[in-house]
Amino acid sequence: MSLPPILAPSILAGDHANLAESARVIADEALAWIHLDIMDGHFVPNLSFGPQTVAALRKGSTLFFDTHLMLDEPHRYVDAFAKAGSNLISIHIEPVYDHAATLARIRARGCQNGIVLNPDTPASTIEPYLTMVDLVLVMTVQPGFGGQPFRSDTLGKLETIDGWRRQRDLTFRLEVDGGIDLVTGRQCRDAGADTFVAGTSFFAAKDRQAYVRTMAAW
Ligand code: DX5
Ligand code: ZN
Repeated sequence: MSLPPILAPSILAGDHANLAESARVIADEALAWIHLDIMDGHFVPNLSFGPQTVAALRKGSTLFFDTHLMLDEPHRYVDAFAKAGSNLISIHIEPVYDHAATLARIRARGCQNGIVLNPDTPASTIEPYLTMVDLVLVMTVQPGFGGQPFRSDTLGKLETIDGWRRQRDLTFRLEVDGGIDLVTGRQCRDAGADTFVAGTSFFAAKDRQAYVRTMAAW
């Protein structure tokens, strides 16, 4: 049994002078999730936006806020993003901090939690956390920028993590992020993914309704 697919468009590819409008574009397609990319200029070589922007978006939106923290010290910002209205907060495995305590803290603040791994990070690094999370996010590009090509060498990792999920009867979502479109997303679906972040391909889609309909049928 696979979980039904969820499309989580990333407003990193939206209009940064009018992010509320980009969130409305997503809601207008009757989608439930929006993906919010938070960057600190250290863990990734780019900056995006912070809790104040998330709080402002929250005022005009009932979407599920899937908040992806690309931060060296995510534990320092969990409370701020929970307070800003995030529904799910995901944190990377690569930096050194207390991952288990931070995952627990996210739940204690009333949010779902997620653990994220970069394309070159082995699946084994997140295995100890599988029973503690609501979502595993497999990066399918090196994080930091939208519009990069999908890395097909991550498909095996999806199969591995989905295999662990099945063997152990776990129910976390398996999300992919980076270079996802209807072709690469379908490959990820076949490898076990059920939650699809899409920035460029969603906002640039000529027929967005057809895009959404196609993915919903996976
Ligand atoms: C990359 C971000 C992604 C990004 C995806 O660092 O984590 O969420 O917005 O953008 P596309 O779909 O354009 O690769
Ligand atoms: Zn992301």
